[in-house]
Amino acid sequence: MDNIVIFGAPGSGKGTYSTALVKEFGYNHISTGDVLRAEIKAGTKLGKIVKGYIDQGQLIPDEHMIDILAGVYDSMLDGPGVIFDGFPRTIVQAKALKDMLQERGEKITITINLNVSEDVLMERLLRRAKIEGRADDNEETIKKRFKVYYNQTYPLIEWFKNEGVLSEFTFKGDTNLIIKEIIDKVASL
Ligand code: AP5
Ligand code: MG
Repeated sequence: MDNIVIFGAPGSGKGTYSTALVKEFGYNHISTGDVLRAEIKAGTKLGKIVKGYIDQGQLIPDEHMIDILAGVYDSMLDGPGVIFDGFPRTIVQAKALKDMLQERGEKITITINLNVSEDVLMERLLRRAKIEGRADDNEETIKKRFKVYYNQTYPLIEWFKNEGVLSEFTFKGDTNLIIKEIIDKVASL
């Protein structure tokens, strides 16, 4: 089974390229952001806990995230693979993911790192704000999300490198070209 981590800053295209990989390879997709937003929408206990963090652009504490992840992953074990979009975001989460996969005889197949400059990210997220109206897509919160990314998540690149699973992508060109490049990479695994 393929276990693919799509990694990058807010707005780097994690969701966009995950959707393309799902379509091409029939993978299951875990977007922790989508899972959390669904909990908020459904008004669950967890949703009430996480809302404040998301609205402030902060990460949800690791212990909540790790429990959620294992539950969702176990419902996907029958498929050809899983895409992790937005997880891991801390070293603690990365180690927990490694352990969870190991317990199930699995490992990370590849981490696709999306490098996009901050001004392009801001532009994209402000454009998306007008279409989707996500609560955390406003300039102030986006800046906080960038800061959280660089402080807590970006250091994971070294961790992935040490694990020997990092694949760097600095994309130029339009979305379709990038999708093709990512699909070719995954097809060659
Ligand atoms: P999450 O939902 O994961 O948000 P994020 O990381 O900020 O990323 P986004 O979803 O905003 O962007 P994306 O990379 O998916 O880009 P997209 O494809 O949409 O997390 C939200 C919050 O949940 C976090 O802040 C945190 O509070 C919490 N959370 C989630 N996971 C957690 C965890 N593991 N631990 C703790 N807390 C957690 O693309 C963006 C836009 O750009 C789209 O409109 C798209 O159409 C466009 N676009 C994409 N590619 C291109 C291109 N090549 N050219 C032009 N436009 C493009
Ligand atoms: Mg997303």
